[in-house]
Amino acid sequence: MKTLLKKKTYSTEETLALGKTFSSELAPGSIVCLFGKLGSGKTTFIRGVCEGLGTKDLVTSPTFTLINEYRNSPPIYHFDFYRIQSESELYELGLDEYLYGEGISLIEWPEIIIKEIIGQRFEIHMKWDIESDWETERNILITQNQNNLRNTN
Ligand SMILES: Nc1ncnc2c1ncn2[C@@H]1O[C@H](COP(=O)(O)OP(=O)(O)OP(=O)(O)O)[C@@H](O)[C@H]1O
Ligand SMILES: [Mg+2]
Repeated sequence: MKTLLKKKTYSTEETLALGKTFSSELAPGSIVCLFGKLGSGKTTFIRGVCEGLGTKDLVTSPTFTLINEYRNSPPIYHFDFYRIQSESELYELGLDEYLYGEGISLIEWPEIIIKEIIGQRFEIHMKWDIESDWETERNILITQNQNNLRNTN
């Protein structure tokens, strides 16, 4: 694991801007996993990423559909696995086709699939400290992670 950035944001706009800046790291096939509890700002960050990548499509959480696809070159796949019940749903979705294709995958609530991701990925960790005096303060950590198939045995 390699730390790329550690930063606090103090507003929705700052997180959008950070996502937009981060989008320049992405290339066809990139996978980004976003961790953080409800309301921590995962979708907000993704909105910034999508703006940076240039799609004109509306970015909304695919909580019930599992995936939203946004028109772009490369295409953008926005996943949200919060409500997933079983791994068979992932099978039906054909997740691997998306992950290992030419599009950019942005994944909220990735815990259920994180071990299955082979190769490189980015991780965005969003922390919202309820104790903080700032209701809009978020701690954001961006890392690059690697999972080699031969290490998973
Ligand atoms: N610094 C900040 N960064 C991001 N969002 C912020 C910040 N301050 C306040 N907010 C607000 O917090 C909320 C974050 O919601 P968002 O949908 O992005 O969270 P989420 O992590 O995707 O939640 P869920 O797990 O439900 O999908 C938004 O209403 C946003 O305006
Ligand atoms: Mg969300």
